Amino acid sequence: MFHRLAPYYDDLVGSKDYRSESRALESLARRLLRSRGRRWLDVGCGTGRHLSFLRRHFTVTGVDASREMLRVARGRLPGTRLVLGDMRSFRLGSTFDVVSCLFSAIGHLRSERDVAAAFANFARHLAPGGVAIVEPWIDPEEFRAGYVHLLTHRSPSVTVARMASSSRRGRRSTVRYHYLIGRTGHGVEHFEEVALGLLLPRGRLLELLADAGLTARFLSRGLASGRGLLLGLKAPA
Ligand SMILES: C[S@@+](CC[C@H](N)C(=O)[O-])C[C@H]1O[C@@H](n2cnc3c(N)ncnc32)[C@H](O)[C@@H]1O
Repeated sequence: MFHRLAPYYDDLVGSKDYRSESRALESLARRLLRSRGRRWLDVGCGTGRHLSFLRRHFTVTGVDASREMLRVARGRLPGTRLVLGDMRSFRLGSTFDVVSCLFSAIGHLRSERDVAAAFANFARHLAPGGVAIVEPWIDPEEFRAGYVHLLTHRSPSVTVARMASSSRRGRRSTVRYHYLIGRTGHGVEHFEEVALGLLLPRGRLLELLADAGLTARFLSRGLASGRGLLLGLKAPA
């Protein structure tokens, strides 16, 4: 996933307000933090949009499983530590005051075991008194199987259209994305991507965060996705 989309990802999510989201995340972190440092790790950082704002007040690091998304992030954030890695298993050998995982990057994991491994890994990379902030995938109650969603973007050089259709089998969600990318002078390219995800109720996600040794809370007023935020606080030293 995201490999072919990476060069157009920023165009496609063009209307998402990363600046105000980052501001909200920062003030949330400042309220919750019991550690003194200013180190922020964004897992599933994608093209580095949140990091580009968070780096004004924090020393930022990013991890992502997609080489192509990281390539875009590196162009945006020269000099920033950006690491290719899987959220279940990366090891940075350092700790952070904030570990975030945003825009439902966690929703790409396919089993409870994988989610538990990712949460344990977030906890491992948190300093005492630090906080994990996770924007979950859609709640099972709210997932609309059969729904068709259209997103478009147009600029003088590129036109992007994404049509998505969703289906569900038990706790497993599938979203099929069809992309049309038109570039002036290059015609129109079409490709598809399939996102497989796991629909876990908030209560279960909170249990898994607690199993990772964090004090777990849910904030229903989260970011633009409307999916709320899971918070995991690590005990101070
Ligand atoms: C919807 S994008 C969100 C990117 C970014 N957080 C944002 O807000 O724009 C999901 C990102 O999660 C990454 N991702 C998916 N599975 C991952 C995994 N197991 N480990 C690390 N990153 C992963 C993808 O490569 C992609 O960049």
